[in-house]
Amino acid sequence: MAKDVIIACDFPSAAETLAFLDRFGGEKPYVKIGMELFYAEGPQIVRQIKARGHRIFLDLKLHDIPNTVKKAMRVLSGLDVDMVNLHAAGTRAMMAAALEGLTRPDGTRPLLLAVTQLTSTDQAALAGELLIPASMEDVVLSYARNAAAAGLDGVVCSPLEAGRVHDSCGAAFLTVTPGVRFADSAGDDQKRVTTPQRARELGSDYIVVGRPITQAADPVAAWERCRKEFLG
Ligand code: C5P
Repeated sequence: MAKDVIIACDFPSAAETLAFLDRFGGEKPYVKIGMELFYAEGPQIVRQIKARGHRIFLDLKLHDIPNTVKKAMRVLSGLDVDMVNLHAAGTRAMMAAALEGLTRPDGTRPLLLAVTQLTSTDQAALAGELLIPASMEDVVLSYARNAAAAGLDGVVCSPLEAGRVHDSCGAAFLTVTPGVRFADSAGDDQKRVTTPQRARELGSDYIVVGRPITQAADPVAAWERCRKEFLG
């Protein structure tokens, strides 16, 4: 399985995103499109980036009743993206329905990942607002096991959780991990960060990196450095 760096293209418009990708010339980095860009530009931005030859992780984090998610995933499967995601909190029934919707008539489909608990949710909110009495680590691992049981390909989690997820769900179960920073750069609003090299040592399969690349003076050099440190 090919490990790689995925660039979080958190830009507000197609124009800014395409100008950013133009800087890479003939190189075709793996791109993450999130809610901001997708809601601003619609499916067309996915088609445009795909037509340029990039692989795409469409990060829309679906969460609704199984039938609705299944139908939405059927639409997304037509966009020819490489990876999509949903919230594991939607239950195993929702995840299984999503997988069904995502699978094309010829049996192919994008990889499907589950968000376990958002990294913005802390133990206090888990207990005090969501009324979940377990530890964050137990919740993340339990949700990952639910995702694996539903047939999903992996989870989005912290690099710090990647090893335990692999221990629990198998080495082939993917861990896609944001919260990555160079040793000498700012942490921004990410709380628990690791370097690309440390993410590799911890067993991440894909790292998602936004601002350390998108806001760098030389984004191509930052992407190359990130790949070098992560891929070894
Ligand atoms: O700029 P930065 O490297 O922090 O970007 C990380 C990306 O990963 C953002 O698009 C963010 O929304 C996403 N993400 C995250 N933490 C999660 C899930 C997604 O940072 N738990």
